[in-house]
Amino acid sequence: MRVVFLSPRYPNEMRQFTRGLAEVGVEVFGVGDGHPDPELWQYLTDYLEVPSLTDEEDLIKRVRNWLRGRTIDHVLANWEPLVLTAARMNELFGLPGMSVDTVRGFRDKQLMKERVAAAGVRVPKSARARSLGDVQRALEITGYPAIIKPISGAGSADTYRIDSPAALAELLPQLRHIAEASCEEFIQGTEFTYDTVCVGGEPVYESVTQYLPNALEMRSQEWVSPIMLSVRDLTQPHIQRGIELGRQVLRALKMGDGMTHMEWFLKPDGEVVFGEIACRPGGACVVDLMNYTGNIDLFREWARTVCWHAFEASRERLYNVGIVFKRAKGQGRITAITGLAQFYDRYRPYIVEDTLLRPGNPRRDWKATLLSDGYLIVRHPDWEVTRDMVIDAATDIQLYAS
Ligand SMILES: Nc1ncnc2c1ncn2[C@@H]1O[C@H](COP(=O)(O)OP(=O)(O)OP(=O)(O)O)[C@@H](O)[C@H]1O
Ligand SMILES: [Mg+2]
Repeated sequence: MRVVFLSPRYPNEMRQFTRGLAEVGVEVFGVGDGHPDPELWQYLTDYLEVPSLTDEEDLIKRVRNWLRGRTIDHVLANWEPLVLTAARMNELFGLPGMSVDTVRGFRDKQLMKERVAAAGVRVPKSARARSLGDVQRALEITGYPAIIKPISGAGSADTYRIDSPAALAELLPQLRHIAEASCEEFIQGTEFTYDTVCVGGEPVYESVTQYLPNALEMRSQEWVSPIMLSVRDLTQPHIQRGIELGRQVLRALKMGDGMTHMEWFLKPDGEVVFGEIACRPGGACVVDLMNYTGNIDLFREWARTVCWHAFEASRERLYNVGIVFKRAKGQGRITAITGLAQFYDRYRPYIVEDTLLRPGNPRRDWKATLLSDGYLIVRHPDWEVTRDMVIDAATDIQLYAS
């Protein structure tokens, strides 16, 4: 089995997926911008360095020339901006995989909601907007508060909550560079993910993670220490409703092989509402959280699934797993961390990862990466204990910079 894997170097977890492919006996032909380091090279059969991964026409031409005389079984991508490119290459090269039209259902947020709603799933009321006039008409459908976001956005970039016509007027200058937007009814509720590994659209592995607070608040307010909690007990009724919604969405969008990452809302009245879905794994350590939940390696199992249509990991859920991302107060370099020693004293056996930046390191751009100034991952079989640990880490640990 020989596969082309787009962007094996970036984002960071793509290195793990590359390792997974090599470990299930696949020859990996990597295509990326920049050069692989020796560690990554050991998993690659060959590598094509390209000037840009976003110039699709140029990329396809270069890959086609590079592959001349070699047979390839599949083109794969796990990074959101490249899933359509991979589908296009599979179509052009006559290889199996989800069609471009199917993948558009996972990329175009309006088309996505239309297809999902047509299957009878509750989605936020919404409309596509290409001009101010469109936005105003859309707001008549959605009412206030509303959400406005790019049609193919990621990382909550350029996603705004609008509470009134005055707020819209104020926001307009910031919306100007967005060519196409999705306007949606604002859904008040707790936000969860539904993550899967699928074979032929059927989930062979399912997982649910709770956000605290919702993703938009995590991404827009620096003082927040964002938390994500992988839920051990998926049999709880409200979680089951989210999972059932997720399964309907996978069928509606004709998912094929690979990982999916969906977001959904649980309203205070118990109703579950679709948020969005991508046909690639979740970022921001979501795959790590799933791995820690059951002591498994989904980087490798993804590879086994897409290449050999087999899934061999245990589905037993042993732990709730929580991650807390920290953001330092102040700018420049980290100067101090408070509360961490006490946190270790209380919870040492349950801490599985600590990447908090230590004094001397420069701060990261919290807007550009949810990883912020590092994170802690903890796990425990008991939900309350896990939740208390992450809330303690969020409130009692503080990084300072100057
Ligand atoms: N209709 C809505 N009602 C309430 N909140 C919403 C709605 N749409 C989006 N949000 C909030 O904004 C966040 C970002 O929106 P969305 O997930 O659609 O964009 P994204 O940029 O693809 O996100 P990411 O790549 O971070 O998953 C959501 O996770 C959610 O917190
Ligand atoms: Mg999202």
